[in-house]
Amino acid sequence: MTETTATTAPAPQGTPTPDTAVHSKRLVLRLVRDEDLPQLLDMNADDIVTRYLPYESWRDMADAQAWMGRAQARLAAGEAWQFVIVLRESGRVIGSCLLFHFDRPNGRAELGYLLGREHWGAGYMQEAAAALVGYAFGPAGLRRLEAEIDPRNEASARLLERVGFVKEGHLRERWDTKGEVSDSGLYGLLRSDWMASRQERG
Ligand SMILES: CC(C)(COP(=O)(O)OP(=O)(O)OC[C@H]1O[C@@H](n2cnc3c(N)ncnc32)[C@H](O)[C@@H]1OP(=O)(O)O)[C@@H](O)C(=O)NCCC(=O)NCCS
Repeated sequence: MTETTATTAPAPQGTPTPDTAVHSKRLVLRLVRDEDLPQLLDMNADDIVTRYLPYESWRDMADAQAWMGRAQARLAAGEAWQFVIVLRESGRVIGSCLLFHFDRPNGRAELGYLLGREHWGAGYMQEAAAALVGYAFGPAGLRRLEAEIDPRNEASARLLERVGFVKEGHLRERWDTKGEVSDSGLYGLLRSDWMASRQERG
């Protein structure tokens, strides 16, 4: 009789665990949990928040739970890491951000993010994105990050530039979502640029 040993592929470098906490001055990023869903529903049910996102606003907890199921499956498959953004002082969840579209052989992934509307304009996403970029280029060992935005999304464009991303392209009529055809702005950030800018800032 031959003995078979179950083998599981090792988790990719830097894969977050339920204990992983990425800290910045005012925020902590951690993996999403079921208990975050009511707050995430509030944000994702807001048509102004989802205006430039490629999905319809959530309607109810069933939409939130379906999304959670997909987030967990993608985490288990090493395809996406879905974090929430928590205010350190109050423990309140104010937004979410993720790394997805991992291409490990080429050392790259894509960044995505959103914040509840009442928290816009306070520099929170700049802080959260910088923390996530540090995690991507540090523990996760990536070399390049990408972001794709609707060019009309001025807040998102400005945010990426503030974090150090460079606009690398404009793709016309790339999406046909929510009854509207739209272009894409493609942005990139290299670990080497990130390290150099951190050294400059001291
Ligand atoms: C994009 C988003 C995350 C920005 O978050 P935020 O916390 O308000 O951004 P910050 O306060 O960190 O600001 C970053 C920069 O963008 C600028 N900015 C913020 N909102 C802006 C707006 N509506 N128009 C122009 N610039 C804006 C800020 O002034 C800041 O630049 P500065 O430092 O030169 O002043 C937020 O608007 C959001 O959640 N939008 C809905 C979801 C979304 O579109 N996600 C991106 C999909 S690609």
